[in-house]
Amino acid sequence: LARGVREPDLAGRHVVVSAGGTREPLDPVRFLGNRSSGKQGYALARSAAARGARVTLVSANASLPDPAGVDVVPVGTAVELREAVLRAAADADAVVMAAAVADFRPAVYAAGKIKKKDDQEPAPIALVRNPDVLAEIAGDRARPGQVIVGFAAETDDVLANGRAKLKRKGCDLLVVNEVGEHKTFGAEENEAVVLGADGSETPVAHGPKEALAETVWDLVAERLG
Ligand code: CTP
Ligand code: CA
Repeated sequence: LARGVREPDLAGRHVVVSAGGTREPLDPVRFLGNRSSGKQGYALARSAAARGARVTLVSANASLPDPAGVDVVPVGTAVELREAVLRAAADADAVVMAAAVADFRPAVYAAGKIKKKDDQEPAPIALVRNPDVLAEIAGDRARPGQVIVGFAAETDDVLANGRAKLKRKGCDLLVVNEVGEHKTFGAEENEAVVLGADGSETPVAHGPKEALAETVWDLVAERLG
């Protein structure tokens, strides 16, 4: 094979990738959101397509071009993302949850724009928990042998927190990266360790998000056998 042309080791496979960050609306003009750009998830989708997979990309608020040959399902909130991921995962060989899913959403959605009042302090925003999509799909696999991959951005005790999270979520692989002011969010490059439920640890050197994507699919392909 020519350099840069991947062996189609995911041919005949259906993979689902979630990307971007959910937005949880407060009123028609405001939301609680996060800094995820979607770049890592889009790199995963492009890479899987190049390796021959049928790809469903569940995309939350990413301002990125649709990857060629990929089925893109746009979503806004965590609840919408859950619906789309569960639907696509029903016949998937692997699901990679690269999206930053909001842990909480406003308890109340104001149908009209929230207005300030001169004589009043602002009301606190009450929050309720969102469903944990990764834990749900990992705990109740749609197909036997389905490979489930999570992502975790940590600021402290990266590996210890990652191990604990992998166990708690029940996924097969967890990509752990360290985040901070100038790390990862919106960046073109990434550095990570991929933890396996089998105890494996695969470091991925600082480099383009495409390189991390290839390593993730290498590890997924191994587990698909
Ligand atoms: N995730 C999810 N549903 C949620 C929250 C997170 O599916 N409601 C997924 C993310 O897509 C990611 C993984 O879980 O693949 C880890 O997300 P993270 O925020 O690191 O984990 P949490 O369990 O929410 O832990 P924390 O309290 O550190 O935010
Ligand atoms: Ca979280």
